[in-house]
Amino acid sequence: MTGRIEKSPEIQKRRQFGSLCNRRQLVRHAVEIGTDRGVFASMFLDDWRGRLLWCVDPWTDELAGYEDMIRWPRLPDFLTAVVGLAVRHFGRVRFLQTTSDRAIDLLRRANAMPDFVYVDGNHAHDAAREDMERYWAILSDNGILAGHDFEMVEPVVREFADRTSRRVYVTHEPANRSWYIYKQPNTRPLTGAP
Ligand SMILES: C[S@@+](CC[C@H](N)C(=O)[O-])C[C@H]1O[C@@H](n2cnc3c(N)ncnc32)[C@H](O)[C@@H]1O
Repeated sequence: MTGRIEKSPEIQKRRQFGSLCNRRQLVRHAVEIGTDRGVFASMFLDDWRGRLLWCVDPWTDELAGYEDMIRWPRLPDFLTAVVGLAVRHFGRVRFLQTTSDRAIDLLRRANAMPDFVYVDGNHAHDAAREDMERYWAILSDNGILAGHDFEMVEPVVREFADRTSRRVYVTHEPANRSWYIYKQPNTRPLTGAP
């Protein structure tokens, strides 16, 4: 069976991932790969009733092979994320200032098997594929693997869906849509308002 891509019947926008996780009882650990200034993290935490969001980002301008090259000093981005998130969501957020491959070991050691992972780091083909594979392996059995910029990573997402025989749902924004996949095969979409 090959994976299928469909417009999400459950959520329209990425800011509804928090509510979707609540409705699915995915309320232990969540991970965001690529937090930058914390825009997504903040909107996710506003709605999500979960325990801990792990924000993974090296916040450096010196990443080898990072195709969306950031050429400015990242300290202001890091401080914006930390101050904004820590003030608004104190105790529910933890910062891992490292790359997604290294963060895996830290998460394993903390026994933090995530219920939700949002992949928004390096969008280069191999890097995105590795993020999906690595984090799929530590995702909880009924968890959701999601990510940003479907338009940029569509071939990788399609390949991943084919390999895992899963359905991919895509949000409805006019651009920079998000995608998501349920780990549990045959998960039925929820009905009713998010
Ligand atoms: C587009 S920004 C993320 C935006 C954020 N997710 C949001 O929606 O508000 C991409 C971020 O990915 C980070 N990044 C790049 N490579 C990474 C890697 N290997 N692991 C973790 N983060 C990475 C960059 O430092 C950058 O801050």
